[in-house]
Amino acid sequence: MIEVLPDLEALSLRAASIFVSASKNSIAAKKRFAVAISGGSTPRRLYTLLGSEAYRDQVDWQHVHFFWADERCVPKDDEASNFRIAFDALLSKIALPQENIHRIKGEEAPDKAARDYEEEIRRFFGESERPGFDLIILGMGEDGHTASLFPGSKSLEETVKLAIPVYLEKPGKNRITLTLPVLNSADQILFLVAGPSKAAVLSEVLGEGEKKKGFPVGLVRPDHGSMIWLIDQEAVRKLGGL
Ligand code: 6PG
Repeated sequence: MIEVLPDLEALSLRAASIFVSASKNSIAAKKRFAVAISGGSTPRRLYTLLGSEAYRDQVDWQHVHFFWADERCVPKDDEASNFRIAFDALLSKIALPQENIHRIKGEEAPDKAARDYEEEIRRFFGESERPGFDLIILGMGEDGHTASLFPGSKSLEETVKLAIPVYLEKPGKNRITLTLPVLNSADQILFLVAGPSKAAVLSEVLGEGEKKKGFPVGLVRPDHGSMIWLIDQEAVRKLGGL
């Protein structure tokens, strides 16, 4: 499902309402809401909204468990840390039990951080289970990457591990990312895409052709769950008729 919103503010408000209703449905059904969130710039307004007076009392945070779709291999107080983005805008503003924060320890060696995160996910969802996140919030880069799954990367072929380290030649940095099987096992995927810089790749990814499979974002196809794209007007300007 694709929804086009006038701008980032409208997109973030819509995302906040989706988050609130998904949390209510999941907690009513399972007494928990397990959500994996992304970094980057686009979701920041959403996090700020959810931590604001207007929203924070609409969610039963006692039953919400935060995970991350990916993380940069930096300390948690580093400006580049996806944990820090969420902490400053949201987690520090809500009554969330500390044990409900399942962060990727970016300060550790990448292999160890990925292994520890996988163990944490298996502990939470159960060893045998393919982890079924209730909601995963994803963004999309100008090259069609999502989480830290980049075009042409071997990480796209991973079928067993839940979380893996990835090394980015440019800028020569390490990251930890959830793998495609985990993304595709989610009950709900929510893509947030805004700004003119995303228009070109979006026209490929949402276009008819097979080219979309060349982009990691085009490989996110939930096995059983639903998928919503929230896109702002600037990002769809190359996509006639949307
Ligand atoms: C990250 C993200 C990444 C992000 C895209 C889009 O760690 O950077 O998880 O996948 O979602 O790069 O980023 P923007 O929202 O900043 O365009």
